[in-house]
Amino acid sequence: MDSFTFHNPTKLIFGKDQVEQLSEQIPGAARKVLIVYGGGSIKRNGVYDIVTDQLDQLNVEIFELPGVEPNPRLTTVRRGVDICKQEGIDFLLAVGGGSVIDCTKTIAAGAKYDGDAWDLVTRQATPEGALPFGTVLTLAATGSEMNGGAVITNWETNEKYGWGFAPYTYPAFSILDPQHTISVPRDQTIYGIVDMMSHLLEQYFHNDTQSPIQDEMIEGVLRTVIDTAPKLLDDLESFEHRETILYAGTIALNGMLQMGYRGDWATHNIEHAVSAVYDIPHAGGLAILFPNWMKHNLDTNVDRFARLAVKVFHVSEEGKSSREAAEEGIKELQKFWSSLGAPQTLADYDIGDDQFNVIINRAMKRGAFGNFNKLEDDDVKTILELSK
Ligand code: NZQ
Ligand code: ZN
Repeated sequence: MDSFTFHNPTKLIFGKDQVEQLSEQIPGAARKVLIVYGGGSIKRNGVYDIVTDQLDQLNVEIFELPGVEPNPRLTTVRRGVDICKQEGIDFLLAVGGGSVIDCTKTIAAGAKYDGDAWDLVTRQATPEGALPFGTVLTLAATGSEMNGGAVITNWETNEKYGWGFAPYTYPAFSILDPQHTISVPRDQTIYGIVDMMSHLLEQYFHNDTQSPIQDEMIEGVLRTVIDTAPKLLDDLESFEHRETILYAGTIALNGMLQMGYRGDWATHNIEHAVSAVYDIPHAGGLAILFPNWMKHNLDTNVDRFARLAVKVFHVSEEGKSSREAAEEGIKELQKFWSSLGAPQTLADYDIGDDQFNVIINRAMKRGAFGNFNKLEDDDVKTILELSK
C-alpha cells in the first residue's frame, strides 16, 4: 500500500425519516439558502415538502434553482453561481440525485471564484473557497453524497469532465432515507446499480499487491449488490432492498475502499467522453464499455480478472486456465447486467462509429489515462469498436 491520509469531512445521516432532522443540520449562521433540484421528482414524491417544512422552521430566506439536468450542464451551474452572487446566498442544499449534487458542488465553488466556473471544472484554476452545502439524496448511484467529485458537461464544446477540490467540494452533511428512493423508476434503479458496481470495479483494478482488506471489502460489496439487485427489481417498493442498495452506493465511492492505492478509472473517462457527445445515461454507457475495457485489458493481469470471476461470480476454476476463468467472469458480468435490463452495445443507443474520433479526442484531452493500464488513442478506439 502507498502511504495515505484519509479525511472525509461529510457527516452521513442515514435512515428512515432522517430528513426530519434537516433543520438541525443547517448552520445557525445561514440566512439565505438556495435549494438546488432537478426536473420535479422531489415535488412528486413529497421530499420537496419535507425539506421546505424543515427550512420554514428556521429564520432563513429560501431561494430555488430547479431544472438541473441529468448530466448537469455548465449553463445551469452558471445560473446557480449568478443567483449566489446576486442574492448573497450563504448555504446551498442539493435535493436529488448525483446530477443535482454535482451541480451544487460546482456552484458552491463557482460562487467564490471570480472567473467562469468552467475554469474550475477544467482545472485551469483551483478554488480558494466555496459556499457550504448539504445534500438530501434521492437516488442510489454515484456516491457524490459523500465524496468530493463532481461531473459537469459543457454542451458548447461537447466536453464532460470530473473535477473536485477537497475540502470545498465535500458536502457538510448528507441525509439518506431509503424511503425517498422508492419512487426511483426501474431504469434509473438499474443505472444506479450498474454505476455503483462500476465504481467498485474501477477500484478493484489496481496494481498494488498488498491490499487484502480492500480487495475483500470490494468483493463483499459486489456480491451483496449482485444478490440484492434482482430482488429489488422484483419489488421496487422494498424498503429493505432500497436500504441495502443506497448504503452500497455510498460506501462504493466515499474513499473507504480505495485507501493506499489508485483504482483504474479509465472506463469512467471513456464514458464521460461518450456522454459528452451523446447525452446518454452515465451508467448506460458504463454497462456497455466496462466488459470491453476488461476484455481489452485482460493481459495486464489475468490473475486479477480470474480472482474476480471466482470470488464475485462464483466461477469454478477446476480444469480451467486463469485466462479461461477470467473470460468466464467477464461473460458473467455481462450476463448479469443484461439480466437486469442494462444496455449492452452502443447500437442500443443508436450510436454508430461516426463520432468515434470526437469521443477519442475528448477522452484523451488530459493525456493517456488509466492507472491499472495506461490507455492511448488506439486502446480507446479498440474498446469503442468492441462496444459497437
Ligand atoms: O431530475 P429529477 O426530476 O429529480 O429526476 C431524476 C433524473 O431524471 C430522477 N430521480 C432522482 N431521484 C428520484 C428520481 N426519480 C424519482 N424518484 C426519485 N427519488 O433520476 C434521474 C437521474 O438523476 P441523476 O441525478 O442524473 O442520476 P445519478 O444520480 O445517476 O447521477 C448521474 C450523474 O452523476 C455523474 C454522472 O456522470 C452523471 O452526470 N457522476 C458523478 C459522480 C460523482 N460525483 O462522484 C461519479 C459517477 O461516476 C458519475 O460520473
Ligand atoms: Zn460512475
